[in-house]
Amino acid sequence: MRSAIFAGSFDPFTMGHLDIVKRAAGLFETVHVGVLVNPEKHPLFTPEERRDMIAAAIRGAGIANVKVHVFGGLLVDFARTVRADVNIRGLRNGVDFDYEYSMEFYNKRLSPGLETVYLAADSTHIFLSSSAVRTLMAAKADITGLVPEQIYQLIAERVKSDEQ
Ligand code: PNS
Repeated sequence: MRSAIFAGSFDPFTMGHLDIVKRAAGLFETVHVGVLVNPEKHPLFTPEERRDMIAAAIRGAGIANVKVHVFGGLLVDFARTVRADVNIRGLRNGVDFDYEYSMEFYNKRLSPGLETVYLAADSTHIFLSSSAVRTLMAAKADITGLVPEQIYQLIAERVKSDEQ
């Protein structure tokens, strides 16, 4: 059976991401979640912190066949490193599709054997985004239910220690 990757910035990892991972884990032998190191962005959490937070959320959801990695550079190289031949992408709407389809064009050029498989977001996650969660966090607004419980706890601890 095939292995798949699911890559992203995950700053932070949301309930929408968790739902995609859960569904992908039901379809593939192993799902390799890749946290992108993007030197151009200034994330709230380091890639290693995000990796550990995501691993905690996945454990909490009882999903066994998922590994979480940090990667830099091209997505196709990450897929090669973990020997996956499917790239999972979640789609909330047509804007996501336009962007993801253009990424697929480049990924196909770079690695014709890597197949992209799209999973439509659950209807309850259509308006959920990491950037909206970051905005709420910055305003100290409630993000209960938008991120997995384990991540909520880690974010709450970080906000508390930043205040001290
Ligand atoms: O969560 P994001 O930031 O929307 O995830 C985007 C991601 C990580 C899938 C995308 O930025 C990516 O693949 N980055 C690695 C660079 C790459 O391989 N780009 C494709 C060819 S241009």
